[in-house]
Amino acid sequence: MQKTVLSGIQPTGDLHLGNYFGAVANWVKLQKEYTCYFGIVDCHSMTMPYDAALLKDNTWKMAYQVLACDVDPERLFIQSLVPEHLELSWIMGCIASYGELSRMTQFKDKVDQLKTKDKDAFVSAGLFFYPVLQAADILIYKADYVPVGKDQEQHLELTRNIAERFNHQFNVDYFKLPESLFTEVPKLLSTADPNKKMSKSLGEKHFINLLGEETVIRKQIKSAVTDTGDSVGEMAPGVQNLFTILKACGNMDAFNSFTVNYNDGNLRYGDLKEVVADTLISFLLPIKEQYLNILANKKQYQDQIYSSSQEIRKIARKTLDEVREITGLLKLNY
Ligand code: TRP
Repeated sequence: MQKTVLSGIQPTGDLHLGNYFGAVANWVKLQKEYTCYFGIVDCHSMTMPYDAALLKDNTWKMAYQVLACDVDPERLFIQSLVPEHLELSWIMGCIASYGELSRMTQFKDKVDQLKTKDKDAFVSAGLFFYPVLQAADILIYKADYVPVGKDQEQHLELTRNIAERFNHQFNVDYFKLPESLFTEVPKLLSTADPNKKMSKSLGEKHFINLLGEETVIRKQIKSAVTDTGDSVGEMAPGVQNLFTILKACGNMDAFNSFTVNYNDGNLRYGDLKEVVADTLISFLLPIKEQYLNILANKKQYQDQIYSSSQEIRKIARKTLDEVREITGLLKLNY
């Protein structure tokens, strides 16, 4: 039988190149080989301070962007449209221990992030519970594999511990233990500080939007930090990053000829940047066109996502019916 893959992305507004190459482009490959479920995890976005007036728009926007990247609409769902995720997360919250949740480094990092901005910052209990909801996302579909970056490995480990404890506690062989799926994905760095990975939280100059304006993208590539003189004897991360973009966009001719230049010691960063910008812009063009097309027909796409979420919900509901039975809750018969 085909193995099952589950992954999720938060509705952060705009997708950037790092998210695209690191996650969504990989989903498009995986959906050809596995039974996939891809969620826009809107409930996870409630764990940090957020603007309720923007959440819906951001959720749709992320869904449109993911579809524009060629993710199969039938594989895509919105987490809050499958409320069984929340039902299972409560049950799993009673299986997870307070101690293990306290050890989650992403939780600690996010608390630090909030507290450095404001030492009296509000930290929601939802942020603490975040990994339990993530475990529910995964276990509800009995996923075999979860494509994740290194930063999510600890959450995967927790998910396995919860699944194993559940099976043991109720003396069943019910949940599978999901494995991380580490596939080779291009890892993009911040263009302004290539010692860090491309990320939105670093600020405007650090990431390139997938749907960015051509002039903005050109400017960003032009001002990308290349060689700071710190990397003796090896290619500076900023230069490597530009090569990574060429390769990720499939421009191997340019990649190879600039590699020759680099090895010969006559690589001109200005030339490289120009080709990178051109490559990127033509690579992104069809995605942008597709996005605009979706936007122009958004009612139809919203209906589509509602109906795929409804279909996917049936699988989740079945798991919950079984889990309620196992855990001693009454049958939900209406
Ligand atoms: N925590 C993930 C991230 O920040 C998002 C996520 C939520 C997720 N639920 C998931 C990823 C389930 C994989 C599987 O990237």
